[in-house]
Amino acid sequence: MNSVQAIDGTPDAEFTDVLKPGTTLLHGQFTIDRFLNSGGFGMTYLASDSLERRVVIKECFPASFCSRSDTLVRARSRAKDGEFRSIVKLFVQEARRLAKLKHPNIVGVHQVFEDNETAYMALDLVDGKDLLEILDDDLRKLQPAQIRDILVKLLDAVAFVHDQNILHRDISPDNIILDSKGNPVLIDFGAAREKASKSTRALSALIVVKDGYSPQEFYIAGSEQGRSSDLYALAATFYHLIVGHAPPVSQARLAAVAADEKDPFEPIPLSTVGYNLEFLAALNKALSLFPKDRIQSAQDWLSEIDIEKRREIALQRAQHDKKTEHVISKLVIETNQAVLEALQVEENVSKIPPKPEPKVNPLAAKFADMGIENCPAVKPKETELKEDEPGNPPEPGIEEEIPDQPKRWVFKGALSKRSMKWFWTGEKSRSDYIGKAGP
Ligand SMILES: Nc1ncnc2c1ncn2[C@@H]1O[C@H](COP(=O)(O)OP(=O)(O)O)[C@@H](O)[C@H]1O
Ligand SMILES: [Mg+2]
Repeated sequence: MNSVQAIDGTPDAEFTDVLKPGTTLLHGQFTIDRFLNSGGFGMTYLASDSLERRVVIKECFPASFCSRSDTLVRARSRAKDGEFRSIVKLFVQEARRLAKLKHPNIVGVHQVFEDNETAYMALDLVDGKDLLEILDDDLRKLQPAQIRDILVKLLDAVAFVHDQNILHRDISPDNIILDSKGNPVLIDFGAAREKASKSTRALSALIVVKDGYSPQEFYIAGSEQGRSSDLYALAATFYHLIVGHAPPVSQARLAAVAADEKDPFEPIPLSTVGYNLEFLAALNKALSLFPKDRIQSAQDWLSEIDIEKRREIALQRAQHDKKTEHVISKLVIETNQAVLEALQVEENVSKIPPKPEPKVNPLAAKFADMGIENCPAVKPKETELKEDEPGNPPEPGIEEEIPDQPKRWVFKGALSKRSMKWFWTGEKSRSDYIGKAGP
């Protein structure tokens, strides 16, 4: 926990390093009104800018590496000078990156500047009380609906920070201020680091752990810290708001589990009045001892508890399903149609009578063997001959010879000769010609 609470007026003798009220910074642009707090990374002050607007000033003052002489900040020793300088450099880098984080639930950074041989950032003053003060104040107990609303807003802010690849690393009740409208604002990005950035030895010495809120990996030097580490701390903060005390120190939880003993953490009972089951289950999950068992992202957490969001997701899924359903039913209809058509074609094909096998007249076959084709003896009966059948070349002149007789094709020729022919002639039976030689 932060060792020092806000102090009104002149700081205690113990805090001789604190800037005195009336001290000006950045050529008179800011005036210190009073000291607020001292953390591992520096001092926090209430101040006014040149337009007499109230701001909060954070001074890079890692007390284990530096001290003050008059207003100037100096390394405690020559040996610590290098480390102190690199901390100041990092403070400026981080402050510049934080200045770009514009979100209604994240404290706004006005300005980043260097003075007194150290660095400063000027922040929006959030008019309200931090959650630790609220927890201490029995008269201002938060209602379940408020708690839920605060968590949803903070999850949105944490998701935003994580999206910029930054971890807060110090989420706790004293780093969340409820403004006059009940809106939560996340403050104190002093321990925040870009996820990828390697902390120097000096910085690791400044790493804060807050018993009850910090996940177990924060106690182990060099261990992997991720989004779920911030989510653990956020869940621990809300555990405190709901249950009335912080969860057990995560280091003790880890030690118990390592010794094959029961994890001393008691999950929030799912029957707790005022909260729905999903809300409490998600909180318990985020408080899992090992990162892999926790909720992995603020977005995942939001979609687990935010009814609106869940409704939205369910709706999107339903719309997607509907679309898929439509596509599938269209496909089914088309397939059915195709199958039906194929069946009909098959049926029609089966209805077509098979082509009759040409009847082989044994006599014709015999003549054919002999090399005689179109023998009148094997030709169909005369009645079967078609009148005026086009296509069969008539012998010119025959027609005129027998003008008043119905015309038809008749055979003329000798059986034994290949010269047998059909002629267009009158109504004489085919037998008239059989056996007679042609003209
Ligand atoms: N922007 C702010 N507006 C109002 N109060 C603030 C603001 N920043 C910090 N404080 C108050 O000062 C306290 C200490 O500030 P914080 O940034 O948490 O530094 P640290 O915890 O490192 O000392 C907070 O718990 C809060 O009560
Ligand atoms: Mg703090």
